[in-house]
Amino acid sequence: MMIMREMTINDHESLLELFSNTPGVTVREADSREATKSYLLRNPGLNYVALDGERIIGCVMCGHDGRRGYLQHLVVNEQYRKSGIGHSLFKKCINSLEKIGIAKTHIFVFKNNDLANTFWSNRGWKLREDLNMYSYNASSNSNA
Ligand SMILES: CC(C)(COP(=O)(O)OP(=O)(O)OC[C@H]1O[C@@H](n2cnc3c(N)ncnc32)[C@H](O)[C@@H]1OP(=O)(O)O)[C@@H](O)C(=O)NCCC(=O)NCCS
Repeated sequence: MMIMREMTINDHESLLELFSNTPGVTVREADSREATKSYLLRNPGLNYVALDGERIIGCVMCGHDGRRGYLQHLVVNEQYRKSGIGHSLFKKCINSLEKIGIAKTHIFVFKNNDLANTFWSNRGWKLREDLNMYSYNASSNSNA
């Protein structure tokens, strides 16, 4: 039976395994154990895992800046897809954000990630064609 619960730092190793085995997901320095620990501390009640028994088969990470929500790493193991797990995971984030007064949420999706782009547009998320995203990297690591 599939259950969902809040993510903890003890899930980190299993999450890295899930990310590494999922085409389309890039593991970066920002996914280190330390960085994940501080992200979870900063964003309580917004990060979830889906489990089949003890096994993590999906996850979603979410944070906010006090004004907007930001989703990242919505990932479902390929064997468990197309049964609503992805939808249930991100809805938990949206519901939690609403409870703290945040109505609008963004997600950044690579243009070539057809699966994800179809997923979000079919869920009613609006593709922003009116803005460009610029990133600055203060780290010497290009994969920060
Ligand atoms: C995107 C992703 C998280 C979706 O996870 P998922 O668990 O398959 O999501 P859902 O089951 O909620 O929905 C997926 C599709 O299955 C369909 N579906 C849901 N339940 C279904 C059911 N019982 N029977 C048939 N189809 C079903 C949904 O309608 C949806 O179809 P659509 O995308 O054509 O609209 C998953 O494909 C994934 O991990 N992709 C790789 C990682 C990635 O790129 N993540 C996004 C980064 S932004």
